[in-house]
Amino acid sequence: MPRLLVRGKSQPLNGTVKISGAKNAAVAIIPAALLAAAPVRIENLPEINDIRILVEIIEELGVQVSWESPSTLLIDASTLRKVQAPYELVKKMRASYYLIGALVGRLGCAEVPIPGGCDLGPRPIDQHIKGLASMGAKIVVEHGLVKVEGKRLQGANIYLDIVSVGATINIMLAAVRTSGKTVIENAAKEPEIVDLANFLNAMGAHVRGAGTDVIKVTGVDELRSATHCVIPDRIESGTYMIAAAASGGNVMLSDVIPKHLEPVTAKLREMGMTVDVFDDQIRVIGNCEPRAVNIKTFPYPGFPTDLQPLAMVLLTQAKGSSVISENVFEGRFKHVDELKRMGACVKVEGRTAIVTGCRRLSGAPVSATDLRAGASFIIAGLIAQGETVISQMDHIYRGYEKICEKFSALGAELEEID
Ligand code: EPZ
Repeated sequence: MPRLLVRGKSQPLNGTVKISGAKNAAVAIIPAALLAAAPVRIENLPEINDIRILVEIIEELGVQVSWESPSTLLIDASTLRKVQAPYELVKKMRASYYLIGALVGRLGCAEVPIPGGCDLGPRPIDQHIKGLASMGAKIVVEHGLVKVEGKRLQGANIYLDIVSVGATINIMLAAVRTSGKTVIENAAKEPEIVDLANFLNAMGAHVRGAGTDVIKVTGVDELRSATHCVIPDRIESGTYMIAAAASGGNVMLSDVIPKHLEPVTAKLREMGMTVDVFDDQIRVIGNCEPRAVNIKTFPYPGFPTDLQPLAMVLLTQAKGSSVISENVFEGRFKHVDELKRMGACVKVEGRTAIVTGCRRLSGAPVSATDLRAGASFIIAGLIAQGETVISQMDHIYRGYEKICEKFSALGAELEEID
């Protein structure tokens, strides 16, 4: 497993970083392409392992794919013939469960192993199942497989018990070619869901309300060819914004959608950082020691849970104590023990973490428990005294395009080892 050495107390990060396409949009848009028996072109895909694995899976199902460039993929699902997704590939990424909605929506059945993914605590799929069952699907979960039979689904009214990005997306995918009208209430409002809806509608689907908590899908018989450009990755953007602030640097992010970053911009400004917003760029200047603030993670447009570990690193440098409430995932403080080994002072009580600031971090060997925790250790390593070696880097390579090159271009001293 590759490891990364991070030399601490390197000079503040400076320069420009180009943001890649959004992982969490791309991993839904590629399965969505299976709904059309016609070629589609997807542009601005991030060059990450989750995408490579997902493309391998759809090829295994009989779909024809070809790369026009490292970020542009042609998908022709007219030859889709299998509904059993291979376990060896599915277990490597969580978002493979979107294949359930796509396969049911296109062929009326699916057999997808229960996905693997990050260690963020329990990650049930009961809301996905609730939605599909409401449409008339017969679902059996056994032997680690989700088997869905849904040849004659009907549109349904579905009220999600919990705001779930995955369940919202899976139900949309199953509903696009299902006769009748499906209404998803208490739907997630993430920008990645809006991006997916735009792609589906470009193929001739009828999806309305994406980005609000009520999404209405009217089924259509066929979908046609389309070209779609994936939106920029707001979590990658927030990663470099927080890194710039933590290192006391001056970093311009290009190819971003500032609107998607508003909760992060607001919180960094509350900490005293300078954040300048332009049409498709954001500049962050870490011009002061951060002020202690409280952070509550919530579904979009709340502060994103995916940036909680990174914000925690920044708050270890703040004057005073900060309180972080993790309201999305039950077990998303697994990075705290590793941060404490670097000298952070964090006390976790249930879903709350109290971060005592003004702690000088010291480099140490740490293990990435998930991709966002891994990214937080890179930032911690940059501001720590001494060297940090991050193991399980595969987690990070799953979801961050060229993260070592991008950080090095900003002045970080990183070295990949093993
Ligand atoms: C998506 O995960 C993202 N992953 C996550 O990003 C992100 O953290 C999360 O949304 C929240 O924004 C992808 O898009 C591939 P949820 P997802 O369903 O869909 C509970 C990253 O780092 N829940 O919105 O799995 C669940 O346990 C990843 O890029 C149920 O109880 O998240 C959680 O507590 C990490 N039953 C909450 O809802 C269900 O059926 C929100 O989960 C589904 C979810």
